[in-house]
Amino acid sequence: MRLYYHKVDHDIGSSGVRDMTINELASICEFELSELGPMIFHDSESFGGSRLRRALADRWTGGDLDPVMVTHGSSEAIYIVMHTLLDPGDEVIVVDPAYQQLYDIAAGLGCRITRWALNRDDGFSADLSSLRRLARESRPRMIVVNFPHNPTGVSITPQQQRELIEIAEEAGAWLVWDHAFGELTYTTEPLPLPFGSYAKCIAFGTFSKSYGLAGLRVGWCLAPPELLHRMAVLRDYIALYVSPILEFFAEKAVRNADRIVSLQREHARANLKTLLDWAEELPGLVKVRPPAGGVATFVEFPGHPDVTGLCRRLAEQERVLLVPGHCFGESFSGYARLGFGGTSTELSAGLAGIRRLLLG
Ligand SMILES: Cc1ncc(COP(=O)(O)O)c(C=O)c1O
Repeated sequence: MRLYYHKVDHDIGSSGVRDMTINELASICEFELSELGPMIFHDSESFGGSRLRRALADRWTGGDLDPVMVTHGSSEAIYIVMHTLLDPGDEVIVVDPAYQQLYDIAAGLGCRITRWALNRDDGFSADLSSLRRLARESRPRMIVVNFPHNPTGVSITPQQQRELIEIAEEAGAWLVWDHAFGELTYTTEPLPLPFGSYAKCIAFGTFSKSYGLAGLRVGWCLAPPELLHRMAVLRDYIALYVSPILEFFAEKAVRNADRIVSLQREHARANLKTLLDWAEELPGLVKVRPPAGGVATFVEFPGHPDVTGLCRRLAEQERVLLVPGHCFGESFSGYARLGFGGTSTELSAGLAGIRRLLLG
């Protein structure tokens, strides 16, 4: 991503939806940029400015402010949670494949990482009985999951989510629920946050994915208040708090979240159709599984056991970005992450580039 992200013309490798302009956000949320004028460049608060925190609490915790912390994207939340809760030698179970931060921060801290492999022979479905077995064997301090899932787009059912909570509870483990794509589902209602039923639960959210506000760099962490207080101590050494300028935009977005997400969902749904139609025209050359949520899917290119070279040629010859599966682990070399959330023009241009490369 670092090599090619800013060099290609058509990014169809990223996992977020089409990013909005400030003017679009202002128009959807019905505010004037002049509202920013009187803002004083003053410090915000360790747990987040009160207006944004209140808006997040209204959306996610039934109005309870105490479990809410505003962060610099969910990246900061993941980093602080792992550094606050984990010690070298701790056992951590992480869904596999996964967004790299979800396992590498714990690995860097000297934790033992056990992969809970999604079942690739069954479209990367989640096998809860294998998770239960792993949890019984390794007695983890933490179980880390992300559904709808990056990079495959699969999700779990509410029943499986209840089973997951039960498994974490039986192990006495922290359940880390990365909700980055949680609001953007296609065929089912979004899953509820696993709060309420289990006290040792932490959830991350972000404006980067379903909202199209990646450059805002704002996310949130929902966790037991005593944990947030410990996290705030570490945060004092990092960035102290999120800028009130960013919080201004983020608060507008949360207050209008349903409108924003439903617009982005409709856009993504139309793009998904374009993707599936394209795949249908290339039988035997590409295999695409429709995702349950999010805007990424793990595409297979039959005949290419390692797609890394293909992705490199795609970036260099066609100026199109896909993320080779090996970035998610050696055993995923036969897949590439394809993100269909960008503009329709970008998606069509990117797909045309892949087609030329495959047929040429
Ligand atoms: C599953 C998942 N979690 C968290 C993040 C971090 O996103 P951000 O820091 O932009 O909120 C990403 C980014 O790609 C992701 O895919």
